[in-house]
Amino acid sequence: MVSRVIPVDDFDLVIFGGTGDLARRKIFPGLFRRFLAGQMPSTSRIVGAARSELDSAGFRDLISDALDEFSGDEKSNTEGRKAFLAQLEYVPVDAKGEGGWKELAELVRGDVVKAFYFSVAPSLFGDLAERLHSHNIADRHSRIVVEKPFGRDLASAQELNETLAEHFKETQIYRIDHYLGKETVQNLMALRFGNVLFEPLWNNHYVDHIQITVAETVGVGGRGTYYDRSGAMRDMVQNHLMQLLCLIAMEPPSQFGADEVRDEKLKVIRALQDVDAHHIVRGQYDAGSDGPSYREDVEDPKSHTESFIAMKCHINNWRWAGVPFYMRTGKRMKERVSEITVVFKDLGHSIFEGDTARHRNILSIRLQPNEGMDLQVTIKEPGPGGMRLIDVPLDMTFADALGENAAEVSDAYERLIMDVIRGNQTLFMRGDEVEAAWAWTDPLIEGWKARNDVPKTYDAGSAGPEDAMMLMHRDNRRWRDIKG
Ligand code: BG6
Repeated sequence: MVSRVIPVDDFDLVIFGGTGDLARRKIFPGLFRRFLAGQMPSTSRIVGAARSELDSAGFRDLISDALDEFSGDEKSNTEGRKAFLAQLEYVPVDAKGEGGWKELAELVRGDVVKAFYFSVAPSLFGDLAERLHSHNIADRHSRIVVEKPFGRDLASAQELNETLAEHFKETQIYRIDHYLGKETVQNLMALRFGNVLFEPLWNNHYVDHIQITVAETVGVGGRGTYYDRSGAMRDMVQNHLMQLLCLIAMEPPSQFGADEVRDEKLKVIRALQDVDAHHIVRGQYDAGSDGPSYREDVEDPKSHTESFIAMKCHINNWRWAGVPFYMRTGKRMKERVSEITVVFKDLGHSIFEGDTARHRNILSIRLQPNEGMDLQVTIKEPGPGGMRLIDVPLDMTFADALGENAAEVSDAYERLIMDVIRGNQTLFMRGDEVEAAWAWTDPLIEGWKARNDVPKTYDAGSAGPEDAMMLMHRDNRRWRDIKG
């Protein structure tokens, strides 16, 4: 099936940090795909702005190399690539000085959608925002896009929000959490709110507990300096896992609108209970046959930063009172898998004499890879000999189910950037949401610092430290196996 592509309005998109890693890996390959899909008007312009003294031709060469490296099969579309590159311009700009701003002002048009992507260190946000205004480049219709990390605690996030608010209204600010741009993450909302089946069961009467797992096989090599200052809590939980938690736990919004959805997510974050120290397990990977240990990767033999975290949380509201949410995420684990599992309660009473086994319905939603869902149901074991029950999976990968109707799944970035141009903020984090998330994580981080908590080591290629298993076993529960 050819996916339905609705072209966006004419735009000028300026990417500060346009020669950087994220731009080369994600932003430009994503834009290229949208271009090939026919979503970008041929008059639209993408302007790279960075410190390097390049001209537009040099910039186009650089992006062409990036497409070779990071694009899929579409890179061999030579005609398309030529046409796409022709829409790129470059201006060398000094974020902290005056160099280049006049040229940028002359280039950016007045009568189209204007978006400014700050793919730079957060310390430059203020300078960029101020100059965009003093040079009359941005106006009240312009949009700015910012990336995580959005602060490293509540105070720094508030400061960033205040800096941006001096120049832009909240409706102009698009804070990216790329998990929200993933097709399957959006599918969570479609599953929950597009089916009558789940909603009646989606509460503490029927749900025993929920598990959220985001396991990665990669280590932190190459990003050690950043990562060692962050750890799994700041890098993954405060944003991606909390967003997943919100989508799975929130009340139905009255409509799929930016503020309606974000209001409901905010309520979940604000209802999160403080987490008991015994309900947090932090880990660090050990050296494995195929790679160094965490401490070697970050070049600090004494680092206490976690590359794995597991925790048990509670949401203080009517729907979820008493239902534990177990979350875990880590690097250098057994398989790459992101999955949400809803474990329903046991049957209150079994009518089948002699059947003493525990039968539970388990709904598992796989976000990546092999997106799909799997529902464990109980049936009669085939054959004679009475009513013996067995549990079987109703397994469905979305790709199989959709067959040739499966539209090509777009990458999170390309979807999110097009949403910026369309002016749709639903899949972006609002300032108060980010602050609420930090307000919840800050005391947990301060707590383990004050306790001088040392992360437990775990084998690279495993499911994390033994203590993470114990976190569940103590409650007479177990993590779902990590299977890619
Ligand atoms: C990023 C984190 O935000 O998300 C990385 O900084 C992590 O550490 C990445 O590897 C995971 O994203 P994905 O899309 O590969 O699941």
